[in-house]
Amino acid sequence: MPPQPARTAPDRERTAERLLASSAKLSFNPLTDVDWDADPVPGAYYCPPRHLSLYGTDLWERMTEEQRIELSKHEVASIASVGIWFEEILMQMLLRHAFDRDPTSNHVQYALTEIADECRHSIMFARMIAKMGVPAYGAGFVAHNLGRLFKAISTHSQTFGGTMYVEEILDAFQREVMNDDTLQPLTRQVSRIHVIEEARHISYAREELVRKRLGPVRRRYEQLFIGLIVYYATTALIHPRLYAAVGIDPKVGRAAARANPRWRATKIEMAQKVVSVLDRAGLVGRTNRWLLRAAGVVA
Ligand SMILES: [Fe+2]
Ligand SMILES: [Fe+2]
Repeated sequence: MPPQPARTAPDRERTAERLLASSAKLSFNPLTDVDWDADPVPGAYYCPPRHLSLYGTDLWERMTEEQRIELSKHEVASIASVGIWFEEILMQMLLRHAFDRDPTSNHVQYALTEIADECRHSIMFARMIAKMGVPAYGAGFVAHNLGRLFKAISTHSQTFGGTMYVEEILDAFQREVMNDDTLQPLTRQVSRIHVIEEARHISYAREELVRKRLGPVRRRYEQLFIGLIVYYATTALIHPRLYAAVGIDPKVGRAAARANPRWRATKIEMAQKVVSVLDRAGLVGRTNRWLLRAAGVVA
């Protein structure tokens, strides 16, 4: 017997109705809404220098301005490629979420709308990376293959908790990029489109997250997975291979970034809001705090 469509609560429908109306009013087509033909602005960074993994280190002090700008380009591209990795995971998780539910509900129609958004975002990030002329570094071998498993077996709390985590840290980073008019127009335009559309995804995920009641044993299990997502998604953001683009041995660059208190402070700042939301949803505790600490997102 085919699975019965899950019942859709009225508040869930109201939220989805609002999000669908907002999507109809303000959505983007990155193929035409980004100026892909413009040349990069000479001397402009791709993200605020204070957000770079080596900012403030001895290596940073020895770099020329050109190398610092080049590093900002590669770090933005690395983060965008991790964005694609997660969006591809998320699209599959949302499809699984929709699969067993009533497709005539607003809730499922918004899940499908979000998949369409993410599909356009991944193309946008891919185009941006190609336009920058840098490699799509990706999430690295271990995270990439854990993603393969995770997208197939994630539970409700892991789907929406993991989604919120990745969307919120990208949001914190991109909000700053889009508002800083000294930065490259390309990364500012891409960030603006992403921030506007992601605001809806974040409210969808946040409501789903608190909708699930968890018993004490189940809570531990979910915390462990959330901890693993936080750890692998955060440590994947900056691929060590990119340091070679500015003449730094990847091992040396990675060690310097790991020991850099400013980079740690940046990660804590980017994750602050979402860690407190996860905490309120009961998804931060003894089971995963050590993983959050290892990821460098809590003190
Ligand atoms: Fe996205
Ligand atoms: Fe999203």
